[in-house]
Amino acid sequence: MPEPSPRILLVDDNARLVENLSEILGDAGYTVDIANSCAQGRAKAATGFEVALVDLQLPDGNGTTLAGELKELCPEGEVVLMTGFATVETAAAAVRAGAFAYLLKPSPTPELLLTLEQALRHVRLGAEKRGLARRAQIAEKLAAVGTMTAGLSHEIRNPLNAAGLQLQVLERRVEKLPDSATRTSLLEPLRLVRDEIRRLDHVLEDFLQFARPRELLARPVELVPLINRVLDLLQNDAERRSIRVVRQLADMPVISGDDGRLRQVVMNLALNAMEAMNGPGQLTVSTEQQDRMVAITLEDTGPGIPPELRERIFEPFFTTKATGSGLGLPIVHAIITQHGGTIEIKNGQERGTRFVVRLPIAKGVADA
Ligand SMILES: Nc1ncnc2c1ncn2[C@@H]1O[C@H](COP(=O)(O)OP(=O)(O)O)[C@@H](O)[C@H]1O
Ligand SMILES: [Mg+2]
Repeated sequence: MPEPSPRILLVDDNARLVENLSEILGDAGYTVDIANSCAQGRAKAATGFEVALVDLQLPDGNGTTLAGELKELCPEGEVVLMTGFATVETAAAAVRAGAFAYLLKPSPTPELLLTLEQALRHVRLGAEKRGLARRAQIAEKLAAVGTMTAGLSHEIRNPLNAAGLQLQVLERRVEKLPDSATRTSLLEPLRLVRDEIRRLDHVLEDFLQFARPRELLARPVELVPLINRVLDLLQNDAERRSIRVVRQLADMPVISGDDGRLRQVVMNLALNAMEAMNGPGQLTVSTEQQDRMVAITLEDTGPGIPPELRERIFEPFFTTKATGSGLGLPIVHAIITQHGGTIEIKNGQERGTRFVVRLPIAKGVADA
C-alpha cells in the first residue's frame, strides 16, 4: 500500500508566502493544509497533522504559544516555527514550547525541505515506537491472563455443563406435562436459562481458545449447513430480542477447514451483531462465491463501528461492553488467518456494520 502523503499544516497570514510555500510543498509531495490565524490553526490541528509550519507573528496571537497548543492537540506531530528575525529569546521560547526546529524567513527551499524531512523522520520514529510499546503491552497482558483464565475457565465449565444437562432433563419432563398453559409458562424461563448457559459456555470457550489455541484440523467443510446450524442455535435468542435473521445462503463450493472453529467465527460475529443492535433489528447472513474465495457476509442494523475503533476491535481484551471479554474478534481473526482467509469491515447499507469473511476454496475444487 502506498503511504499517504504527509500532512503539513501551514499557519501564516502572509498570503503571498502561503501561496509560494504551498506550491513548493505540494511539488515535494506533501499535502498542505492552510490556516491564516491561531484560531484556524487550532481548529485544523484537531484533525491531525504530521508537521506544522507556524509563523511567529499571527494576527490573533503568537506562534510560540500556538506551538505549545498544537503539540497538545496533536502530540504525534512536530512543530517548526518560522520567523522574519531571530533572537536568542524567541529561539529559547520556541524550544520551551516544544518546537522541533526554528527557521529564518524566507528560508531557502533546500533548508526548509531538509528541516521538514527531519521533522517527519522524528514523527515516524515516534509512531513506530508507540506501536512497538503497544504490542509489547498486549503480549504481556496475554501471557499473564492466559494461564490464569485457562485454569479458571475449566473450573467454571464443568459445573456449567452439569447444570446445562440437568436443565435438559427438566425441559424434557416439562414438555411431557399434560396442561399446555403450564407447559408454556414453564418452558419459557427454562429456555431463557438454557440460552444464557450457552452464552456463558461460549465466553469460556473464547477464553480457553485464546489461552491455548488448538491445532487446526483441516477437513472438507460445507459452509451453508454450518452457517445454518449456528443460526438455528441463535434463533431463540434472536426472537426474544425481536431480531429478524435473514438467510441468503447460496450454495458454496467446499472449503478446507476446521468445522468447529469456523462455526465459532460465525457464532462470534452473529452474537456481536445481535448485541450491537441491542433491540429490534435485522441480521442478514449471506454467502457468495468470488473468484477462488467464498465470502460470508454478516450485516446488522446496529449503531455501526466508528472508524477510529475499527483497528482496535481486533485487539485482545478491547471491548465497549460492560461484561465483554474483548476476545471474540481476536479469535475470529486468528481462525480466519489460520485458514488463509481475510476479514473486512464495512458500513452497513443504511446504518450498522457489515463484516465480510473470505476463505479460499479448497484446491482442486476451484479448478474442477
Ligand atoms: N457488529 C458490531 N457492531 C458494532 N460494534 C461491534 C460489532 N462487532 C464488534 N463490535 C465492537 O467490537 C468490540 C470487540 O468485540 P469482541 O472482540 O467480540 O469482544 P466483546 O464482544 O466481548 O466486546 C465490541 O465491544 C464492540 O464495541
Ligand atoms: Mg463479542
